[in-house]
Amino acid sequence: MKTHRIAHYPGDGIGVDVTDAAIAVLHAAARRAGGFQLEFTRFDWGVAYHEKHGRVAPADFIAQLRPFDAIFLGAVGWPARLPDGITLRPLIEIRQTFDQWACVRPARTFTGVPCPLAGRPTIDMVVVRENSEGEYVDNGGRFHPGAPEEFAVQSALHTRRGIERALRFGFDLARKRRHRLTLATKSNAQRYAFALWDEVLEQLAPQYADVETDKQHIDAIAMNFVRRPEFFDVVVASNLFGDILTDLSGAITGGLGLNPSANLNPERRAPSLFEPVHGSAPDIAGKGIANPVGAILSGAMMLDWFGEVAAARAIRAAVDATLAAGHGTPDLGGRLSTTALAEKIVAALA
Ligand code: NAI
Ligand code: MG
Repeated sequence: MKTHRIAHYPGDGIGVDVTDAAIAVLHAAARRAGGFQLEFTRFDWGVAYHEKHGRVAPADFIAQLRPFDAIFLGAVGWPARLPDGITLRPLIEIRQTFDQWACVRPARTFTGVPCPLAGRPTIDMVVVRENSEGEYVDNGGRFHPGAPEEFAVQSALHTRRGIERALRFGFDLARKRRHRLTLATKSNAQRYAFALWDEVLEQLAPQYADVETDKQHIDAIAMNFVRRPEFFDVVVASNLFGDILTDLSGAITGGLGLNPSANLNPERRAPSLFEPVHGSAPDIAGKGIANPVGAILSGAMMLDWFGEVAAARAIRAAVDATLAAGHGTPDLGGRLSTTALAEKIVAALA
């Protein structure tokens, strides 16, 4: 039988609870669909590993991960025990070394989960975040530390190649959806970097004449996510803008615990990474009440990536039916534990 081999990196806090719950759902979906199986290998790296070994992950962690078909991550970080700058390092190294340049973050409303916006709009959008360059390149310095004349320089780096591949990815995705692409820009004030983004969009648009395009400045788009979110289909954004916008897209659809994400190497030359958008939530860690839906839907994105689209679709339908029936964890106003909600979703699969 076809076997997909996955590195399971639960991380810290609720990362462990939600990925364990999601893996149970993924196995159930694989059994139901038939024709393939999933094999998970667990890597217990993170804060507890650091307390034992003096580092967050072994020195050769990249080499250990490389042979896998995908990486399934919970969340990393526990700032009270270890500074985030140390704990999050392997995650950043994974994204960069494996050139996971497309970060795909769908956000949609669910029947049964109240949208916090007035008028309860139906939202169904995907933010494609450029994940390899832009504002997050490590490029700059601090000068005269501590002195009154201290200054910092941090330069963003936007390449034509990086912009073009992000936009093409967005166009291809829009063609499978509602044929609309919006670019988050700021060319009015950042007249080099975002003028280049605007220009590449203009050059590509005629090749995708079936996709309607527009561009909005980042401040306007933030307002429009709240004012008329139903307008948006695919939104393409630079690294920083995409990071900010996806906290907002998560918030307007009813909660951080629901949102999945994929960090893709679209050329498939290295494993891609799937993880919920939320963090490790130390405030509720160990209580067994974390919402597993973001992790479960990230698992469905992973199955799509493997080409197991029927199983992925079944998981999304089971999540929808379960939430519509009013089942939920405390963050959704429900009373179920992490595992109890996952069990309801498994039952809905059958
Ligand atoms: P967070 O996302 O962990 O939590 C924010 C709030 O949302 C908390 O009140 C938490 O209880 C709640 N929440 C988050 N996920 C939930 C879920 N599945 N179910 C129910 N409630 C949920 O963000 P925070 O507190 O800013 O960060 C905590 C740690 O996570 C930090 O170390 C941070 O760096 C790390 N982090 C890691 C990420 C990753 O691994 N990709 C992403 C974001 C944060
Ligand atoms: Mg973020």
